[in-house]
Amino acid sequence: MTTVNTDACVLVTGANGGIGTAICRLLVTRGHRVVATARNPAKLETLADELGAALQPLALDVTDRAAVDGLGEALPAGFDRIDILVNNAGHDTGGRRLFDAGSSDQWCEIVETNVQGMIRVTHALIGGMLERGHGHIINLGSIAGLKPYATGTAYVTSKYAVHGFSETLRLDYAGKGIRITEIMPGLVRSGFAAQRLGDVAQAEAFYDSFDACLQPQDVADTVAYAIAQPPHVEIAQLVVLPVSGPDRS
Ligand SMILES: NC(=O)c1ccc[n+]([C@@H]2O[C@H](COP(=O)([O-])OP(=O)(O)OC[C@H]3O[C@@H](n4cnc5c(N)ncnc54)[C@H](OP(=O)(O)O)[C@@H]3O)[C@@H](O)[C@H]2O)c1
Repeated sequence: MTTVNTDACVLVTGANGGIGTAICRLLVTRGHRVVATARNPAKLETLADELGAALQPLALDVTDRAAVDGLGEALPAGFDRIDILVNNAGHDTGGRRLFDAGSSDQWCEIVETNVQGMIRVTHALIGGMLERGHGHIINLGSIAGLKPYATGTAYVTSKYAVHGFSETLRLDYAGKGIRITEIMPGLVRSGFAAQRLGDVAQAEAFYDSFDACLQPQDVADTVAYAIAQPPHVEIAQLVVLPVSGPDRS
C-alpha cells in the first residue's frame, strides 16, 4: 500500500517545459504545494493562473549562481520548507551534431544547466532537508545516462553525470531520511527537440519519425509514484521508455 504525504512542499525546476509543467499539474492535483521555477516569468504566471494558490511561481535560472545561492530566502511564505526537490531543468541546445560541429561554449552550456545547475540547487536545499530529518530529491536523468548515442557528446556526458551524482548522493545520505530518485526516460514529446534543433517544424518531424513517444504526463506519473511511496521505500532508479523506438535497441 502506498501513502501520499500531501503536506510535502515540492520545488520543481524547469517548470515551463513539457515534463516540468506536467509534474506541477499532477502534484497540485494530488494536493501538494508546489514552487514552480524556470527562467521565463510570464510562462510561470500562466501556469500559476491555471493551478491557483497551491502553486507559487518563482523565476530561477539554475545557471545563475547568485540566484541559486539566494534560493532559500527567495521562497514564498508558506512554501519556504522544501520537502521534495525535482531537478528537472535541462536542455540539449544545438545538440544532435558531431562534437567538432558545435562550439565548446555551446557544449559547456548544456553541462552548466544539466549538471552544475542540478548540483547548485540541490546544495541550496539539502541543508534544510537534513535539519528536518527528511527529504526527497528527484533527478531527471535520461536513458542517455545509461546508453550513449552518436552526436550526443555533451548531453550524454551531462546525463551520465546526473546518474553518478544521484548514485553517490544516495550513498552519502543513507540513513539520514533523504530519498534520492533518478528518473531515466526515453524519448518524450515535449519542447525539448525544438529547443535542441531551434526549429519547431523540424522538431515535430523528428518526433513523427518514431512509432511511439512518451508524453510528459507519463514521466510525471513516475515522479508521483516515487513520491507516494511510504517513507521506508526509496525508488532509486526508474527507466521509462516508449514501447517502440530507438531507446529499446
Ligand atoms: N524530452 C525528452 O525526450 C527527454 C528524455 C529524457 C530526459 N529528459 C529530461 O527531462 C527534463 C525536462 O525536459 P523536457 O522534455 O520537459 O524539455 P522542455 O520541454 O524543453 O523543458 C525544459 C525546461 O527547462 C527550463 N530551463 C532550461 N534551461 C533552464 C535554466 N538554465 N534554468 C532553469 N530552467 C531552465 C525551460 O524553461 P525556461 O526556458 O522558461 O527556463 C523549460 O521549462 C530535462 O532535464 C531533459 O534532459 C527529456
